Order: sequence, then structure tokens, then C-alpha cells
Amino acid sequence: MPIILAIESSCDETSAAVLSDQNVLSNIVASQKIHSEYGGVVPELASREHQKNIVPVVDKALKNAGVDKNKIDAVAFTRGPGLMGALLVGVSFAKSFAQALNIPLIEVNHMEAHVLAHFINDQSRSDFPDFPFLCLTVSGGHTQIVKINDYLEMEVLGKTLDDAAGEAFDKSGLLLGLSYPAGPAIDKLAKSGDPRRFEFPIPKIQGLNFSFSGFKTAVLYFLQKQVKSNPDFIKENLNDLCASIQFSIVRILMGKLKRAAKETGIKTITIAGGVSANSELRNHLATIGDKNRWKIFVPKVEYTTDNAAMIGIAGYFKFLKKDFCSIDVKADPKLRI
Ligand code: KG4
Ligand code: ZN
Repeated sequence: MPIILAIESSCDETSAAVLSDQNVLSNIVASQKIHSEYGGVVPELASREHQKNIVPVVDKALKNAGVDKNKIDAVAFTRGPGLMGALLVGVSFAKSFAQALNIPLIEVNHMEAHVLAHFINDQSRSDFPDFPFLCLTVSGGHTQIVKINDYLEMEVLGKTLDDAAGEAFDKSGLLLGLSYPAGPAIDKLAKSGDPRRFEFPIPKIQGLNFSFSGFKTAVLYFLQKQVKSNPDFIKENLNDLCASIQFSIVRILMGKLKRAAKETGIKTITIAGGVSANSELRNHLATIGDKNRWKIFVPKVEYTTDNAAMIGIAGYFKFLKKDFCSIDVKADPKLRI
């Protein structure tokens, strides 16, 4: 039963986790609030926050797990994709930690880790997805449909050509006056809104790829037009606007996921990443899954947004294969599956 220390620092969450086998002993996440006033993540500020947080966050993860650092068998860390300055903090910390204790170092692809979060053991679930399965990986930086053939063997079937689904939430939210990241606020406000009140266009993109930049522009033009004739339009219709925007984004995502299931014949369907916390996406998936006899897996909410437990589970599967990396490994902001 290997004990793995995992580090995540790719964007605006500094996180450390300790895993024993597939079990999470601790998972500490320090979310950086500083970006909310800028309407998005400011890379330089993110790096500085990681630098400030990394030691206390790792310390707390070890304490909460009740594990002495000398009992750690390997250190797993996010190599990419992400922001270069942010990644460097986690990569440098992981290297120093591994070298000081003379233990192996494991590099992890952040996007693979979002998918592998489905293999974290927790009491609320009885089984794991069988291979091959599909995963709609939707976050602030990425939107992909991935075919998973084995733990560390994944193929991207479709991806966004421009903005990510999370960005569509965040940028639309900004237009509505909500602070960054707007996804959770839109989800909450949408609960008492009418999703069919306003209609936004579904982009016609070939195959299994996505595009969200036109969606954001459509929301912008629509709001500009309405506000011209009624300056209080957004305030008076906030719930309906949130519900309609959310419904449109979910329809775009689910349309492609349905197509991927049909084309591949795969009926084990999962979702992952920050946007997979969205309640409308989860409800829609359950309904469509029922109709199409899909076997659905949805991650626990705490493992949807960025966290080190998912880096730890990816590290665990690499540890079993003795897939270690050299101390010379470099952060890669554009690392791909
Ligand atoms: O996976 P994640 O934590 O970071 C990246 O790797 O990018 O995803 C963050 C994204 C943000 O865009 C945030 O607005 C979105 O996930 N998000 C949500 C919800 N919770 C987080 N979007 C919609 N509904 C939610 N409940
Ligand atoms: Zn992520």
C-alpha cells in the first residue's frame, strides 16, 4: 500500500493530498480569492499565492493524514497543463521534497487526473467505471471528450476550438455583474429561474469539437440590446438569465456527449472537472443516461474542481507501473493527453 504525497498548483488552487492506495487520507485546498476582483486569474498573482501557500498546505495535509513525512513512498505533482509560473512552484517543491527524502518523483497530467478522480475510493460508491469509458472533461481551461482505454491510456475524441465551458460560465457571469469564478453563482441563481425564457444559439461545429467564443458574444450583444431599452434588465431578470445561459451551455455539452456515445457505442459515461459540479449538467446527464441506458459516474463535488487528491490517484496508478520521472523534469504549460 504505497503512501503518496500529491501536489497541485496549475491554476488558482494550491492543494496537497496524502493517499494510501486509492484512499484519500487528506486533501487540503487553498483557493485563491485574490482573483475575484480582477474578473479572472492573474498569473503573476497566482504564482505569488502558491509560493505563500505551498508549505502550510503540505504541512496541513501531512498533519490531517496523520502521516510522518518519512513514511511517504513517492511525490506526485502536476506537470501541466496550466500557468507556467503557477506550475513552477509545485514542480520545484515536489522535486525538493523527493530529493530530500530520496523517494521517487511522479509527473502527472492535470487533465488525466481530472478523469482518474473517478477511481478514488470512498464509502459513497460501490464500483468504478469499466474500460473503455467516455469522460466529458469540463473545466475553466479545457473542454474535452476523452475515451479512456485504461488508467493511463486516453484518447481525446473532441475538444474546444476556443473558449472552455467554464470560461463560457465565467465570462457570461462577468457580463451579468457576478464575480469570478461565476459558475457556482450561476448554478445557484439558476435554481429559481426559467431555463427557456431566453434562447441563445447552439454553435454548429463539426464532429465532436466544441466552440464557446460565439456563445459569449451572443450573450454580450443580447444584454447590450436589452439594457439599452431597460437599464435594469439584468437585475430584474437575473435568475432567468442564469437559468437560460446554463441551460444553453449544458445543451451544447450534452449534444456532443450523446453523439460521442452513439459513434463509439460506449455506454459507460462520466463527467469531470470544475463544471461537472454543475447541477443542471448532472440532472441532464441523469435524464439522458436513463433514456439511453448509460452507466453514469459523477465525481464527488470536492473532486470536481482542482484538488491534489486527483493528482494523487493518477500518481498511484503510475507508481504501480514504476513510471517515475527524473529530477530534471520540466513543467509543461501545454502538456496534452
Ligand atoms: O477544474 P477547475 O477547478 O479548474 C481548471 O482546471 O480550470 O474548473 C474551474 C471552472 C470555473 O470556470 C468555474 O466557474 C467552474 O469550473 N465551475 C462551475 C461550477 N463550479 C465550478 N461551473 C458551473 N457550475 C458549477 N457549479
Ligand atoms: Zn482543472
